[in-house]
Amino acid sequence: MGFSTDAIHVGQEADPSTGAIVAPIYQTSTYLQEALGKDKGYDYARTAHPNRRALERCITRLEGGLTSFVFTSGMAGIDAVFRLLRPGDHTILSDSVYGGVYRLTTQLLVQFGMEFTFVDTSCAKNVAQAIRPSTKMLYIETPTNPTMLVTDLAAMGSLARERNVTLVVDNTFLSPYFQQPITFGAHIVVHSMTKYLNGHSDMTGGAVILTRQEDADKIYFLQRSTGAGLAPMDCFLVSRGIKTLAVRMERHNQNGMAIARHLEAHPKVKRVIYPGLASHPQHEVAKRQQRGFGAMIAFDLGSLAAARRLLDHVRLCSLAESLGGVETLISHPASMTHASIPAEVRAKTGITEGLVRISVGIEDVEDLIADLNQALDHI
Ligand SMILES: Cc1ncc(COP(=O)(O)O)c(C=O)c1O
Repeated sequence: MGFSTDAIHVGQEADPSTGAIVAPIYQTSTYLQEALGKDKGYDYARTAHPNRRALERCITRLEGGLTSFVFTSGMAGIDAVFRLLRPGDHTILSDSVYGGVYRLTTQLLVQFGMEFTFVDTSCAKNVAQAIRPSTKMLYIETPTNPTMLVTDLAAMGSLARERNVTLVVDNTFLSPYFQQPITFGAHIVVHSMTKYLNGHSDMTGGAVILTRQEDADKIYFLQRSTGAGLAPMDCFLVSRGIKTLAVRMERHNQNGMAIARHLEAHPKVKRVIYPGLASHPQHEVAKRQQRGFGAMIAFDLGSLAAARRLLDHVRLCSLAESLGGVETLISHPASMTHASIPAEVRAKTGITEGLVRISVGIEDVEDLIADLNQALDHI
């Protein structure tokens, strides 16, 4: 079946006991056991529940994986993935990963003897050179948050295969509608479902999609043991959001392209970073591996003062962290999402004081452009 059909139907069968087209929210912590050792497939909601299973089936199909597990946040899922590693294991990461991943690895996981190296993964040579005998994982965000660098997934897939390294790809920015990393050789895909998969900014959640049974067994063990599995109501919300993923992403893409072009032509904007523009350094790579360019745009206004004036004057665009919702959100990465990254690392990776990130929503694009224009007039 096609992507939209799968998004609407996989895991979303009518409820067998009542015929309800939308399956109920199983808001229960525990399940009746008919006899000792005999249950209907569920015993306790930390371990599993029907809404979680339904959502996991759908996400597995959309990403083309073997199985999936959903967590209380993107970070909870990403943390579970890093726990596949042992003390002494080394991981190479994209150097402008989401700030929370930087914090988790450099401030917490290093205390357990894991080692991390950050490189610009948009250049495959950098990655090959950073591989050591102890390297077990390659963790790629593409496009990166917020600098929108694109990494060549096919090149990473062959490198991972040749060097026997697990390739993990964060697919949050594009969703499986625009990019399917497993087709390029990723072993594990992660998502902040808080973003496009849910799409309505009303919950937090994460997904880990696996392709190997041995990883799946370990992630399930971790989820069961640590209790970070997603609750029934939140699973229901994401399942509902995913039904409109395809139409939302099409509109995000149209609006994203229009705003990127508009900003690029605006005299107050120094630089626009959007993989859909021919000026983007990896535009050709993006065209090869993405079916669309999405709606995340970074643009540089040259100084903190200019960024502050814009952010103080937007009316329709909301100054807020997060992304991927139907409403347009605008933020200042250096002081918000990426504040946990040291200033010298931010400077090296292009997260300048004048950089603004916009998550373009699905409102009428003329209204968004008018709002940005009036705010830019204040600079
Ligand atoms: C690309 C990316 N990955 C992971 C995360 C973490 O997800 P969550 O906030 O759901 O824990 C975020 C959050 O902004 C993100 O932007």
